[in-house]
Amino acid sequence: MKNVEVYEVGPRDGFQNIKEYIPLETKMKIVEGLLAAGVKHVQITSFVSPKAIPQMKDAKELATKLVENHPEADFFALVPNLRGAEAAVDVGLKWVSYVVSLSESHNQANIRRTHEESFIELQKIQKAYPDLDICLDLATTFGCPFEGMMTEDDVIPFLKPYVDSGIKTVNLCDTIGIANPAQVRKIVKAVQKEYPTLDLQIHIHDTRNMGMVNTLAAIELGINKVQSTLGGLGGCPYAPGASGNLATEDLAFMLIEMGYETHIDIPKMVELAKFQKEVIPEGLFSGHLYKV
Ligand code: COA
Ligand code: ZN
Repeated sequence: MKNVEVYEVGPRDGFQNIKEYIPLETKMKIVEGLLAAGVKHVQITSFVSPKAIPQMKDAKELATKLVENHPEADFFALVPNLRGAEAAVDVGLKWVSYVVSLSESHNQANIRRTHEESFIELQKIQKAYPDLDICLDLATTFGCPFEGMMTEDDVIPFLKPYVDSGIKTVNLCDTIGIANPAQVRKIVKAVQKEYPTLDLQIHIHDTRNMGMVNTLAAIELGINKVQSTLGGLGGCPYAPGASGNLATEDLAFMLIEMGYETHIDIPKMVELAKFQKEVIPEGLFSGHLYKV
């Protein structure tokens, strides 16, 4: 059976947009519910400035508890700098998403760094933690709220120094949900051709209801690591117009119906998505549950 690994990023990409603080116990319940529903990989938080993202002020406590309680789970976190990587290593995480935007203006808006500064920061992390696996989260791979559409001519040269520095995994992120399947095919094919050893992931927002087709376009080209969020919760506080992500329960439904192995229990996921909607009513949801 063909296998697609689902990487649940709701506890980071979804929660970061929620203004009201979500109690730590609720976050724990959702992450543990995801594990109980068969999800193996969960981005549990981000180690960022609490001034930038107040929701993540409990990152250390949450991650410590989750890692202690679930040593078997594959947990990871987003980090924007060396300080974040240090915190991730301290709580026992084995890998992190290091976020950089393909568009310089979004990089500035999001992490207040030039491209050059972001690259130098990555090198500091690689030097300090040579055993830490780092996935490059390439935000705005397909388009930017400030600079417009991106093409393979933007992506390919941008990745070069990162690949040369030892990055082995890249997550192609449609941060604002602007991609289309033809563009996804073009960019993914170009990256696969230029960097055949790179391990690729895909992360698509569902702003224009194209989350599923864009993700499927990537899967059909052999990408078998896909990011999504429970209930389609999502957005980016520094990307005006960004909407929810592709909903994990809908993605898993499609994959299972198409004969892929995901290990995900759909009824459990749907129950958990309903619970999440009850406890986080202000969220932007994009799953089928919220369209009726
Ligand atoms: N974790 C916790 N706190 C951090 C931190 C981290 N990884 N990095 C910096 N800080 C703190 C600093 O200690 C400082 O606190 P102080 O003002 O109380 O002294 C404050 O944050 C600002 O630090 P500075 O290094 O000057 O950062 P900055 O103001 O240039 O902001 C980032 C840069 C990257 C820290 C910030 O923009 C950020 O966290 N962005 C993340 C945005 C995000 O998560 N977006 C969505 C995900 S894609
Ligand atoms: Zn996202």
